[in-house]
Amino acid sequence: MPESHGIARILDLIKNAEYMIALTGAGISAESGIPTFRGANGLWKKFRAEELATPWAFQKNPKLVWEWYKWRMGIVAKAKPNPAHYCLAKLEDLGLLKYLITQNVDGLHTKAGSKKIVEIHGNIWRAKCTKCDYKMTFNKPPDSVPVSCPECNELMRPDVVWFGEPLPRDAIALMFELARKADLILVIGTSLLVEPAASIPFIVLEHNGKAIEINLTETKLTPYATVSIQAPAGKTLKKVCDLLSK
Ligand code: OAD
Repeated sequence: MPESHGIARILDLIKNAEYMIALTGAGISAESGIPTFRGANGLWKKFRAEELATPWAFQKNPKLVWEWYKWRMGIVAKAKPNPAHYCLAKLEDLGLLKYLITQNVDGLHTKAGSKKIVEIHGNIWRAKCTKCDYKMTFNKPPDSVPVSCPECNELMRPDVVWFGEPLPRDAIALMFELARKADLILVIGTSLLVEPAASIPFIVLEHNGKAIEINLTETKLTPYATVSIQAPAGKTLKKVCDLLSK
């Protein structure tokens, strides 16, 4: 389908949806300068997930894991939301987007003004104590790592979900409820290779909903998507939101 037809169809679907949700992944922040995980320049090409993003890696070498998160915080700190983040915030403002599920930990959706967000993989700017209930929020990367708990002096850890860990219970319950309720889902910049997020668009489809996919490449959703656009998310959603304002 020519891209212009795809954009027109997206607008049509968005305007006629009763309960639209969105699912985003690392690709939505790529145009903000944050590397994705998979693909040619993905983080998992240069780093080993099992040495940096598992509870066992943290147990073995908390300093190394914290160094990696500190480095990523530095990248995220310099990044600004791009037109894709802003378009989703605008769709929420207009009452067209009911909820946004993100796998991203970069906080750029919040920066862009989105409010109804489920951050299923946590947030890089938060840390939690490995022993007590203490949580902290950073506004810049910590000066020294690993970070200790100011309450009990035990190790703090990034408040993100690592491989082999369950998702936060509230987030997962809300995510599945939204998937069952939605009649349209925007799936943006995710490889759909990590569960349970990868199942969400298919739950919407099983409940007779529709799916719009925006991604540079095809995914397992592409054959089933109502509209699939292979183009950068920022560029594509800018066109959608510009047309919406006309
Ligand atoms: P991935 O890195 O697996 O996939 C990024 C997707 O974005 C790919 O399908 C790209 O084709 C697409 N993409 C890249 N640039 C894009 C652009 N400008 N516009 C549109 N699409 C673009 O990232 P996720 O699917 O988010 O988990 O990965 C899921 C999870 O795996 C992450 O949350 C993280 C990771 O390991 C944890 O850390 C728990």
